[in-house]
Amino acid sequence: MKQPLGDTGLGATEVQDYIDRGLRHLWIHTQQQDDLARDDQFLVIESGEGIYLRDTQGRRYIDGMSGLWVVAAGHGRTELAEVVRRQTEQLAYANPFAYASAPAVDLATKLADIAPPSISKAFFVNSGSDAVETAIRMAKQWHYNRGDAKRFKVISRFGSYHGMTQGALSVNMANGLNRAPFEPLMPGSLHVPNVMCDRCPYEKTYPECDVFCARTIEDTIKAEQPETIAAIIAEPISTSNGCYAPPPEYWQTLREICDRHGILLIADEVIDAFGRTGRWFGIDHYAPVEPDFMTVAKGLTSGYAPLAAVLTSERVADGFRGGPKEAFVGGITFGAHPVACAVALANVEIIERERLVENAERTGAYLGAQLKELQSRHRVVSDTRGIGLMHTLEMKRDPETGEEFRPEDGLRERMPVLLREQGILSRAAASIAIAPPLVINREEIDELVDGLDRAIGTLESDLGLA
Ligand SMILES: Cc1ncc(COP(=O)(O)O)c(C=O)c1O
Repeated sequence: MKQPLGDTGLGATEVQDYIDRGLRHLWIHTQQQDDLARDDQFLVIESGEGIYLRDTQGRRYIDGMSGLWVVAAGHGRTELAEVVRRQTEQLAYANPFAYASAPAVDLATKLADIAPPSISKAFFVNSGSDAVETAIRMAKQWHYNRGDAKRFKVISRFGSYHGMTQGALSVNMANGLNRAPFEPLMPGSLHVPNVMCDRCPYEKTYPECDVFCARTIEDTIKAEQPETIAAIIAEPISTSNGCYAPPPEYWQTLREICDRHGILLIADEVIDAFGRTGRWFGIDHYAPVEPDFMTVAKGLTSGYAPLAAVLTSERVADGFRGGPKEAFVGGITFGAHPVACAVALANVEIIERERLVENAERTGAYLGAQLKELQSRHRVVSDTRGIGLMHTLEMKRDPETGEEFRPEDGLRERMPVLLREQGILSRAAASIAIAPPLVINREEIDELVDGLDRAIGTLESDLGLA
């Protein structure tokens, strides 16, 4: 077992000062600012090691969601800190609109090596949203360059998260996301039901359904006129939609529909890629299916620097070279940042050398089994699902009748606190995201599941549901 992280060396006054100034000056993403001021909600994270984080008060937590599905290689890697130092000294920046840097070339080469065979080119940007935005624009301009200028529509699925910039938000249909303040969003954003076999939106049953949820996307395409559709975007295995791994034929069917109608297929791998699902990429579970674009971020650097990429094929790149074809209208000042690229390469090499993809598959199967056992011990746990080290645990007031928790049960406020009391940080309400760093071992999984067990037990007794 890893050593507990030691004292922070901060006194009570300094700890409080960080909290006070943080609440006054720092805008935490997506959180309602009043919520943070309540009940000791404002945590200042001070350091990390392996799967653990420590806050300024010296409390230790398991990083139950790898930050935001980011820290694949675990916290506190001095090897990656050394890469940052070396590359910063040698070359911190090169104009990505004009030049390459050695780390960018090396990383692009490595990604081409591990990605599916037809994927051979990387366009580096700064975030998953940037990558989605770029892939959408690349798809549109690819059609435009071929004289197919009417193709501007993009299809995405209900429940899928794809990011927060304008184009990404237009295809982002995550549950509970309020897009109304930003409307009108990108014209031509079309949305179709997602794949979730045990609660099929079409009330069908697999395998008799013959993946109707995929097949019927073609009806939307026909109704909208195929020659107006630029791309379909989907995560190979969606986290935001509840970790339902689609049946094997799902992606094959999407690929066939795209090919029949000249549509480009974007696999949003921002969470899935770099081992999270127990394969290098989520789409690898559906080989030999290959998308036209893969958007990657998060695990690409394990969070040691911000970097994302659109990975694509020679076929797509060919649409931007030769004759009168226009260069891609897209570029970003910090794209292909040499330090971020050097860190990403070293991170991918760590994942490879330490066999973290295999660990995610093996230890993830153990985690899945432990969660099922936990479910059998708790009345309120209605389901646990997942693949690799990407799981979700769902709770209901009464799983037998399907009764959901009531607003007055206060799950959104209560559950994160109950988890923190057990030394676990994660996104939690009626469902809990469980996605620890890929370095986790069985002993640490046991610690994580024991903590979940106690937190859920406390919830049940507090609400009289035991
Ligand atoms: C599938 C998917 N795509 C895109 C994004 C956006 O990435 P970012 O937050 O880095 O912009 C996310 C973020 O969680 C994601 O899960």
